[in-house]
Amino acid sequence: MKLSQKLAALLLAISALSATSLADDAYQTHCASCHGASGAGNPSLGAPNLTLFSNAYLERQLRGFQEGWRDTTDPYTQSMSAAVGALDAGVVAEALLAIDQLPDSREISVAKAAAGDTDRGADLYTAYCGACHGTNAGGNDALGAPSLLGLDADYLARQYRHFSEGRRGFHADDRYGKQMNRLSRSLKDPSLIDDVSAYVAQLSQ
Ligand code: HEC
Ligand code: HEC
Repeated sequence: MKLSQKLAALLLAISALSATSLADDAYQTHCASCHGASGAGNPSLGAPNLTLFSNAYLERQLRGFQEGWRDTTDPYTQSMSAAVGALDAGVVAEALLAIDQLPDSREISVAKAAAGDTDRGADLYTAYCGACHGTNAGGNDALGAPSLLGLDADYLARQYRHFSEGRRGFHADDRYGKQMNRLSRSLKDPSLIDDVSAYVAQLSQ
């Protein structure tokens, strides 16, 4: 390699490194206080694990929080919307890049076991959810259905209720949210929502 080529390779390596650390800075500065340094989430703050979502899902939800597609009354949703409302597109893109590089984690750090009948939840899951979210809840990007793994039962049930009560998936531009919103009306009984959420949370173990 000629010296100029070596220099060019070195410069390329340095710029790749600094792009990674910029992205990492964006995540650690703007997201980690709630979602954790490893991205595995913090159930006591209502902040979900982010490591198993696809980029397409993450980007869409960030847009949703910034443009008011998500629930506006839930204090957890409000804290997330406030945290990212004023961030510019470049910082959000860097944070998402950093999340993509975090190791996948299915760890669910809640002390108490989920309330809910997991056997009944398994039947409900097969009948109503697996077609989109996948047999093992790993998600299906082609359908816009996220992975449900690594999420605690309270989070799952809370988001589900946002949909079934029309507080998520109501916005005209929220194409995928509207699908889940329509679907969620077929299963509205709170105890059945707890059953299916307990079953899904158990799939992460
Ligand atoms: C002040 C705490 C806080 C900060 C800071 C924060 N979040 Fe959140 N985030 C939350 C909470 C709480 C929720 C759950 C919202 C809900 O229940 O509707 C959430 C939800 C999300 C979701 C939706 C996941 C899903 O399952 O649909 C994404 C994506 C997300 N956050 C990404 C980020 C990114 C990226 C950053 C940094 C740029 C960030 N968050 C900063 C608290 C926070
Ligand atoms: C017709 C396909 C379809 C079916 C069937 C379906 N979902 Fe969904 N689900 C989606 C889509 C698409 C999204 C993403 C919505 C968005 O982008 O906001 C979603 C999102 C969710 C979320 C939000 C996850 C998060 O991290 O915020 C939960 C929880 C959920 N679904 C649970 C269920 C459960 C439980 C069932 C069965 C009772 C079910 N879904 C059936 C398509 C489906």
